[in-house]
Amino acid sequence: MRLSRHNNQPLAGADFGSMRFVLLLALPLIAVLGVYRAAALDSGKVVGPNACAECHKQEAEAWKGSHHFKTFRELPRNPEAKKIAERMGIRRIRSESLCVNCHYTAQRKDNKDEAVSGISCESCHGAGKEWIKIHSGFSGKTAKTETRSEAQARWKLAESKGMIRRHALYQLAKNCYGCHVVPQQELVNKGQHRAGSMFELVSWSQGEVLHNTWYSRGKENIPADAERKRMLYLVGLGVELETALRAVGKATVRKAYAFEMAQRADKARRRLAAVATAVPNVPEIAQMVELSHSAALTLNNGKDLAAAADGISQLIVTITDKYDGSTMAGLDSMIPQPSQFKGAARKAAAVN
Ligand code: HEC
Ligand code: HEC
Ligand code: HEC
Ligand code: HEC
Repeated sequence: MRLSRHNNQPLAGADFGSMRFVLLLALPLIAVLGVYRAAALDSGKVVGPNACAECHKQEAEAWKGSHHFKTFRELPRNPEAKKIAERMGIRRIRSESLCVNCHYTAQRKDNKDEAVSGISCESCHGAGKEWIKIHSGFSGKTAKTETRSEAQARWKLAESKGMIRRHALYQLAKNCYGCHVVPQQELVNKGQHRAGSMFELVSWSQGEVLHNTWYSRGKENIPADAERKRMLYLVGLGVELETALRAVGKATVRKAYAFEMAQRADKARRRLAAVATAVPNVPEIAQMVELSHSAALTLNNGKDLAAAADGISQLIVTITDKYDGSTMAGLDSMIPQPSQFKGAARKAAAVN
């Protein structure tokens, strides 16, 4: 790709601008607000991983074997981290919110934020203070005596208080990509932090991160089945595209960040175009690809890119509501194999 002095030149890929308005108008304008932004963890509502581990021992053990846990100790000693921090004018990595947002979990103590662990339970499942008692309380009864409708109401209440459950694929994925794309121009250009991970949701969630040991009572760390893998794969690609478009939208200078994010967006939509061909019975995928071409991958184009990303967000939510993966066997040959998973899943040991 050639550098140019013209800021409105595309940073990657080709464009069919003509589709822009047609597609945006075809989408409902309500409900796009709020769903798409992965909010930074509210430190005032964080209870910390030890509070979860009181009941979730197995899940906590799996977590302790992951990079997410280890970064707490290792990052401040990492020479590369010191260099990045220096370039950013940061003295103490663990107390600067810029690094803390993605590498740590901060908890409010005595009116001050304190980094209490690496990337922990609540970074993915939501800050727990307002739902921790509700989700585990069986509506004041027991697992046996709570009725079905009471259980449904309990989960609904827990979710309204910010709990992100295992079925909430879109929200779970938003959290992963919110960190793993590294949508921060200064950090990449000035700090020379890497411009995100070669992230893919199946391979990155089914290795060292896997901790499906609760409902098996610790007997088994249950991997995603074929249908869930298809959903993870598709939702992951969609969220990658959405996050990358927003990230390009923050680009204001023709430097590494802009190119890396534009390439990421372009790659995601090419993959999605292939996916759309493989499962033509899910028309929302082709619509996502079309929408991504409605805003040019150029500098200072935040408004158009955010609009495209909002539309894509809406389509992913539609997909998660409408499909369960059973009609998407066409994806199976594209989904990474266990040999490509990131790290090894912990074998379940004792009983929870
Ligand atoms: C007092 C014990 C207890 C504590 C503490 C606890 N949990 Fe749970 N958790 C449970 C129980 C019980 C269930 C299953 C409820 C059921 O079967 O209906 C559960 C289920 C879950 C689930 C699965 C939800 C789903 O989709 O089915 C997640 C995720 C979870 N807890 C996360 C956490 C996190 C994160 C924390 C800390 C912020 C935490 N839990 C603290 C007891 C606890
Ligand atoms: C937007 C989220 C985000 C922010 C903010 C962030 N990082 Fe990172 N960082 C990541 C991710 C994700 C990775 C893993 C990249 C990969 O897959 O290799 C990472 C990796 C690193 C690595 C390489 C780690 C290793 O073990 O090789 C260093 C060093 C690092 N970050 C330092 C920092 C410092 C210092 C700051 C604060 C100035 C910071 N990061 C802020 C998301 C972030
Ligand atoms: C990196 C993000 C992440 C972190 C950190 C994380 N979880 Fe999870 N958790 C997930 C995802 C994603 C799933 C669903 C995985 C799947 O279905 O394959 C899940 C599933 C679960 C479940 C359901 C397990 C089952 O048997 O089905 C429980 C319980 C849970 N997590 C609790 C915890 C606790 C407690 C911690 C901290 C010790 C934690 N999680 C840390 C992302 C995370
Ligand atoms: C709060 C930010 C954050 C969230 C949310 C997050 N990660 Fe991470 N993740 C990181 C950082 C930072 C690292 C690098 C840690 C290190 O090695 O220093 C990392 C590392 C990893 C690794 C290890 C990579 C390697 O190099 O081996 C895997 C796998 C991973 N993340 C998967 C996930 C998945 C799957 C999700 C969502 C379910 C997720 N992450 C959510 C920040 C995050």
